[in-house]
Amino acid sequence: MDETAVVAGETEVATGADWNPVERVILERRSVRKYKDRQVPENVVRRILEAGRFAPSAGNAQPWKFIVIRDRAMLDEMERDVVRLCKVFKFFLDWRTSPLGRSATWLMAQTFIRIKRNQLHPIPFGAITLIAEGKLRAFHGAPTLILLLEDRRGVSRPQVDIGCCGENIVLAAQSMGLGTCWVGFVELLKYGLKWRKRLGIEFPYRICEGICLGYPVGNPQGMIEREVMDVDWYEDGAMRKVRQGGDDVTV
Ligand SMILES: Cc1cc2nc3c(=O)[nH]c(=O)nc-3n(C[C@H](O)[C@H](O)[C@H](O)COP(=O)(O)O)c2cc1C
Repeated sequence: MDETAVVAGETEVATGADWNPVERVILERRSVRKYKDRQVPENVVRRILEAGRFAPSAGNAQPWKFIVIRDRAMLDEMERDVVRLCKVFKFFLDWRTSPLGRSATWLMAQTFIRIKRNQLHPIPFGAITLIAEGKLRAFHGAPTLILLLEDRRGVSRPQVDIGCCGENIVLAAQSMGLGTCWVGFVELLKYGLKWRKRLGIEFPYRICEGICLGYPVGNPQGMIEREVMDVDWYEDGAMRKVRQGGDDVTV
């Protein structure tokens, strides 16, 4: 498709037309979990942060702050602290292996899971176990980590804004041939004063998400199947189900 696709106005997009460059960046992005040691040049990181800075936010509150960490010793220390905390979580919550006894740990795990329903979903819980056992690196050895801090005074739901901001960052990086991976586990660094002090994080800010950034090893990018879904489509006084996705659907 030619560049007119990104010009605002009455541009027509034919059914089945090739994806435009922006769509390609969106559709082909994958999370990268293996990075080269080579550092990303500073100007490139700053360009990527510009994409974050221009993200939409409720009331244009821009409830975010960025911290860029490229100090290898500091990143390694963060990794060690996350591993330590994952080990603590695993000790208390993994009823299959906990030395506290199966029944007591099972009860404790069930309670925690109800309180922290999203954090202790089986997927992050599985990752906690892998990190604790040294089978998965929390920051994937990336040379750059961008911390996204949330300004709690933001309008409405600042975490939604952080999501928009982070995705702009991820897509801008992808468009430049870089790899990224969101790192929800930075949340663990919120516990305790250590990292808040080290990084000078004070109210109204708190760590929300992290994105690691670097040059990918190999070529992990590419489109993969996503869930096919039905969209409820209201038009001309009627509702119909529109199937979104799947090999037999051309858009
Ligand atoms: C908010 C958020 C937090 C995430 N946290 C992690 C994480 O801590 N570690 C990790 O390896 N991947 C993390 N991911 C990446 C997801 O696992 C990944 O996006 C998902 O499996 C889909 O795969 P894809 O990004 O390759 O398309 C996170 C993604 C998001 C959006």
